[in-house]
Amino acid sequence: MGAAAIARPSFAETASPKTYDAAVQITWRPLDPAGGVREIVRAGTLGANSHNTQPWRFTVSEKQITIGPDFSRRCPSVDPDDHHLFASLGCAVENTVQAASALGFKAEQRIEASNSDRITITLDRGQPAHNELAAAIIKRQCTRTEYDGRAVNAEDMDKVRAAGTLDGVQCMLVTDRSRMDAILDYVVQGNTAQMRDPAFMAELISWIRFNDSMGIEHLDGLSGRSSGNPSLPAWIARPLLRFVMTEKGENDKYAKQIRSSAGIAVFAAASNDKAGWIAAGRAYQRFSLLATTLGIRQAFINQPTEVPSLRPQIASYLRLGNRRPDLIVRFGRGPTLPPSLRRPIEAAIDPS
Ligand SMILES: Cc1cc2nc3c(=O)[nH]c(=O)nc-3n(C[C@H](O)[C@H](O)[C@H](O)COP(=O)(O)O)c2cc1C
Repeated sequence: MGAAAIARPSFAETASPKTYDAAVQITWRPLDPAGGVREIVRAGTLGANSHNTQPWRFTVSEKQITIGPDFSRRCPSVDPDDHHLFASLGCAVENTVQAASALGFKAEQRIEASNSDRITITLDRGQPAHNELAAAIIKRQCTRTEYDGRAVNAEDMDKVRAAGTLDGVQCMLVTDRSRMDAILDYVVQGNTAQMRDPAFMAELISWIRFNDSMGIEHLDGLSGRSSGNPSLPAWIARPLLRFVMTEKGENDKYAKQIRSSAGIAVFAAASNDKAGWIAAGRAYQRFSLLATTLGIRQAFINQPTEVPSLRPQIASYLRLGNRRPDLIVRFGRGPTLPPSLRRPIEAAIDPS
């Protein structure tokens, strides 16, 4: 069966949202048990992804979903080797697999060749299974705010560590305050280097959606709301940015955010190639879904993995051996922020 037969949009997706809140309601609506393969794809698009560029293409049939890169949505400045792009595909894979089991499919994931660009998920009909990770798909978010500083208990730490240990990925949890401060120091060095790099800043700004109308027009990118920033007209916000978003201001913000967190999770895959990057994304996504079920918030602090000169330094500090530090995330308990948005799945589905 071709994609046209599978990809019939629901009313919710054809109606264009008039407000940010309406777009949130559409994007994060519960998975429809009668929605079949199409809903599994939608769950995939709700995964975390770098700069919310949604850098994926899906090919869909009744028995199979293939997820591949959309290189037109890559970020060459922050992610020149497409590491984050493939990690984002891994996040989509994990949501797809979890949603499949909840919606009555057995899903098996296969990477087409050892270093292929594409991941195929084969679907066999089964019985819908109660799956708390699938239920968390529509509640998960990257929460870029301060947390409450409380520790997470040992039992919950064990659960999130186990969830993040997948496909050979190591999930290291750091809770010692002096080690967290050392990681903060690398984050500050990385953020400073990035903010001094005009190409990095230009790329970042191109994905910022300064106000609600920009957010609902694009349905991608980094909305002010989900970053905890006020909604402003773009013509005011753009020139103001260099006064509001200063090196010191951002570094102080990261210091407060990390010091308010219960700990830091580091994900390091077994191999530094596309298969490893996909696995790291998948492990992170499972970690974040499980954290969501426990009311634990999390947000990325990837700067030391993104600045090439810092990557070996933090790998050595964390004693990762020859593993690449793929993703770094702080976690803890705190409030939620308004969610990010997603494009309708039609924008990401190719004919099979
Ligand atoms: C590989 C990868 C790298 C990311 N890097 C960062 C980062 O360095 N800083 C950050 O604030 N968010 C980062 N994010 C989070 C995305 O910006 C976020 O997933 C996206 O905006 C969608 O928001 P949501 O996850 O809340 O739905 C990253 C996500 C992925 C998958």
